[in-house]
Amino acid sequence: MKKTLLSGVKPTGRPHIGNYFGAMKQFVDLAQSGEYDCYFFLADYHALNFIQDAEEMRRNSIDLALDYMAIGLDPAKVTLFKQSDISAHTELSCIFDAIVTMPYLMRAHAYKDAEAKNKEINVGTFNYPVLMAADILLYDTDVVPVGSDQKQHVEYARDIALKFNHIFKTELFKLPEPLILESVATVPGVDGRKMSKSYSNTIPLFASREEITKAVMGIVTDSGGPEAGGIPANVYAIHKLFRTEAELKALYDANKGKYKALKEALIEDIDAFVKPMRERRAELAKNEEAVIKVLAEGAKKADAKASKKLLEAKKAVGVL
Ligand code: ADP
Ligand code: TRP
Repeated sequence: MKKTLLSGVKPTGRPHIGNYFGAMKQFVDLAQSGEYDCYFFLADYHALNFIQDAEEMRRNSIDLALDYMAIGLDPAKVTLFKQSDISAHTELSCIFDAIVTMPYLMRAHAYKDAEAKNKEINVGTFNYPVLMAADILLYDTDVVPVGSDQKQHVEYARDIALKFNHIFKTELFKLPEPLILESVATVPGVDGRKMSKSYSNTIPLFASREEITKAVMGIVTDSGGPEAGGIPANVYAIHKLFRTEAELKALYDANKGKYKALKEALIEDIDAFVKPMRERRAELAKNEEAVIKVLAEGAKKADAKASKKLLEAKKAVGVL
């Protein structure tokens, strides 16, 4: 029996190279290893907390499905689906609501961050870890590949599984493990902070050559004092994703202090890397009907597994 791997991404806009190296690339590597039965989904109900425009939500969802396929996830080999197509996710989340306490959710990083910024938090954001636990636990997931910022959420899923199993005297839910690739745990953005849509410091994954050029030329190279030995730290940190340290040493030694030349080399490397995926995506985008069909078929497969688990959960709590 293969182990089960599951992960989700919110359809909140164009993915960037931080999303790719922090999470999506691992999806492809792990799927291609053949070791896992893989489920990847679009976390559209999670996205609804941030995107409240129907057209934008629809567009983003198709776009994310295209992104998944363009990076190399083959729908014939992995299950690709949309969270909202499987009602078991929200039903199980509702069951979990009964055993999860408010103080426990108040300890979540995402909640604390929003609170610290004095944001008015909606219930969906507060409840985010509960729905995410349902996403994971419905599929008897063994491993959840995510960026390091999602580690706590996977721990919440483990806690919720343990608590449910304890209260209802069952072994229904399996404990999932996060899978984090430490070497690229946090990809820096063009300003040196964590690359993030919310900081507008990204290099989009499917960027055109022009967009790559614009983003790279905008990388901050005067981040406080003279750059160490003529090496622009922010350029180097991003470049490391595309070349080995040995290759970079030769390049950066030969171009000490020549920030423009180093940025041009980085543009070449990003473009060479992105081009095949960008072209594949453009090809797939010509047939959106096919994408919708992939999601419909994925939903059938996911639903078969999820609704069985939900049924057992309903029996365990006594509503069935
Ligand atoms: P953003 O911060 O741009 O909104 P998301 O929160 O949508 O990104 O993250 C989607 C996935 O990509 C998550 O698994 C997250 O951990 C990962 N990720 C996001 N930004 C980075 C980054 N800068 N470095 C590494 N992984 C990242
Ligand atoms: N919270 C994740 C993110 O922001 C997305 C997500 C939702 C997810 N449900 C999940 C990831 C289940 C892994 C497993 O990136």
